[in-house]
Amino acid sequence: MVNKITVVGGGNVGASAALGLAQRELAKEVIIIDIAEGVPQGKGLDQWESAPIEGWDTRVRGTNDYADTANSDIVVITAGIARKPGMSREDLLNTNAGIVRSVSEQVKATSPNSIIIMVSNPLDVMAIVCMKTTGFPRERVIGMAGVLDTARYRSFVALELDCSVEDIQALVLGGHGDTMVPLASYTTVSGIPLSQLLAADRIQALVDRARTGGAEIVSLLKTGSAYYAPASSVVQMVEAIVKDKKRILPCSAWLQGEFGMSDLFLGVPCKLGRNGLEKIIEVELTDEEMAALTKSADAVRETVALLS
Ligand SMILES: NC(=O)c1ccc[n+]([C@@H]2O[C@H](COP(=O)([O-])OP(=O)(O)OC[C@H]3O[C@@H](n4cnc5c(N)ncnc54)[C@H](O)[C@@H]3O)[C@@H](O)[C@H]2O)c1
Repeated sequence: MVNKITVVGGGNVGASAALGLAQRELAKEVIIIDIAEGVPQGKGLDQWESAPIEGWDTRVRGTNDYADTANSDIVVITAGIARKPGMSREDLLNTNAGIVRSVSEQVKATSPNSIIIMVSNPLDVMAIVCMKTTGFPRERVIGMAGVLDTARYRSFVALELDCSVEDIQALVLGGHGDTMVPLASYTTVSGIPLSQLLAADRIQALVDRARTGGAEIVSLLKTGSAYYAPASSVVQMVEAIVKDKKRILPCSAWLQGEFGMSDLFLGVPCKLGRNGLEKIIEVELTDEEMAALTKSADAVRETVALLS
């Protein structure tokens, strides 16, 4: 357990993540901070009032004041606007860049040693904005996308095979967007290659569904985007860091030569432990997978170029 985890943005993803962190007692204190007055306080109090029933002791509370977040060990940034039907993640770019810049300045001033998990979209670009604004090393700015994209893919494979999600291992690389790269060659079911269990066209259909998994939820909800699975993804990453589990999870990380690329955030296999991003694992890719990863990187760079 660490002392303090702050969740910036007490909306759908932020509030759900705060509850998940508290339920697992990953910190003594979880602070939800938002610009909306009363909302983080109300949600924080409501969550804390569930603690006697659920049996956890993490103090959750909401605030509008960064002084309350001071010296957080981990900061999860979910502040910003979410997609509505017809919007791409890139449509959120400059609104969320302004929000992430101001949040990052406050986090740098009040929690200079924190590890930041970026969630706001467009994810890979918001991670760059945050790293540039805080000046934190790459070990302490990590983007959440691959865990979610992989979970979506695994959930679809489990439905298709009618088997436990727990037995499905998969790796999704690349940017958090339509160019993400689910690696069929690294998908196994209890060690059995997926290609032995499913025909290639079925695998491709599941890959395609995972790629547009976020849009599928947006089109159903109509008023916002997914938050249960995103919040669970945040909790899994934070748990790996707090418990120093050295888990290998796909996360968006600042590349410095890995996979032949530099100076951009992209989804790659990362080892997460108490120091944050402890290692990027360079897996072997087929020519086709490498081409798809390069295309995904180009899409991230194109979005970066639109930053004002
Ligand atoms: N990385 C991923 O895989 C992933 C998954 C889901 C959602 N997201 C992104 O996460 C973000 C949040 O999504 P949501 O569904 O929770 O949205 P939401 O609208 O429910 O919540 C956003 C919250 O941010 C707050 N906010 C706005 N400006 C702020 C500021 N300057 N400081 C503090 N709080 C501020 C708002 O008041 C609101 O409560 C969106 O950008 C969404 O696209 C990313």
